[in-house]
Amino acid sequence: MRKKVTVVGAGNVGANCALRIADKELADVVLVDVVEGVPQGKGLDLLQSGPVQGYDVMLTGANDYEPTANSDIAIITAGFPRKPGMSRDDLLLANYDVVRMATEQVAKHSPNCILIVVTNPLDAMAQAAYWVSQFSKNRVIGMAGILDSARFRTFIAQELNVSVENVTAVVMGGHGDTMVPLVRLSGVSGIPLTELMDQATIDKIVTRTRNGGAEIVKYLKTGSAYYAPSAAAVEMAESILKDKKKVLPCAAYLEGEYGINGLFVGVPVKLGARGIEQIYEIKLKDEEQAMLKKSADSVQELVDVLKKK
Ligand code: NAI
Ligand code: 2OP
Repeated sequence: MRKKVTVVGAGNVGANCALRIADKELADVVLVDVVEGVPQGKGLDLLQSGPVQGYDVMLTGANDYEPTANSDIAIITAGFPRKPGMSRDDLLLANYDVVRMATEQVAKHSPNCILIVVTNPLDAMAQAAYWVSQFSKNRVIGMAGILDSARFRTFIAQELNVSVENVTAVVMGGHGDTMVPLVRLSGVSGIPLTELMDQATIDKIVTRTRNGGAEIVKYLKTGSAYYAPSAAAVEMAESILKDKKKVLPCAAYLEGEYGINGLFVGVPVKLGARGIEQIYEIKLKDEEQAMLKKSADSVQELVDVLKKK
């Protein structure tokens, strides 16, 4: 039987997720949005790209969740993006209501699906989806680390004038200003970054990675990034649908790993048919562990606000 993916939110990230899923022929896609006509129109437009682009999957749009029934994966992108001057955290309460409603409906119609949460502030929204869905922790995953690492990799490749394909980079922690680009574990074809760049250049790239989302918001003015984010969310969906068991940085519910308990934070995980099949606990240096703790503390602050709601 064909696989089925629901994409909640037919905006910039959601529509591009649908397009990338279709381009890779991963699954049929149902786009859901509150705005009347938009998911239907985008679904039909995407469907009509098939004959030209050479993909053969069904793409539909809806304002309700009936057509999403029995999805294998639901990608939640519904909510508000930030505008210049806003942090991701400024979106907390407005997007909490959106993610809560979307998760309730998805869980009701697709009780066995795997949730990939994209809406910001990411780690807190993944936590909200976990609470509301009551799914097991392996079936609720937040997308951020792949995007943040992709930015880190891009800047490293640009700086060294090497193929981005040879660059590996690890970014852990929450998807915010306190994210933790792990320089020690990043490099080019096995050559550590510290052998290739001086500390000042590394610091510049780390700062640019941390501000990678804001840099794009500043250019776009009316919204935030969506090409790289949709590529990242679909890499996760592909690894799950094809049981590829890719090891990717994702927001996962931690229960003691890295000394963090009861919180979604970005860590390396293995993604396969069961969702998160393994959480990798890397032995961190003291200063790295301190940075990760600081990042987790800032996620905890947001989660504490939600707990009082
Ligand atoms: P967008 O504004 O283009 O699209 C959001 C869509 O959600 C709109 O079409 C809107 O009508 C819809 N929506 C609002 N409330 C809804 C509800 N209750 N049910 C269904 N649909 C609803 O925004 P964009 O650029 O697609 O971003 C979406 C979210 O993803 C934002 O919160 C943004 O900050 C976040 N994001 C997170 C990233 C990450 O790394 N985790 C990366 C990029 C975006
Ligand atoms: C980003 O980092 C908006 O969180 C999103 O681009």
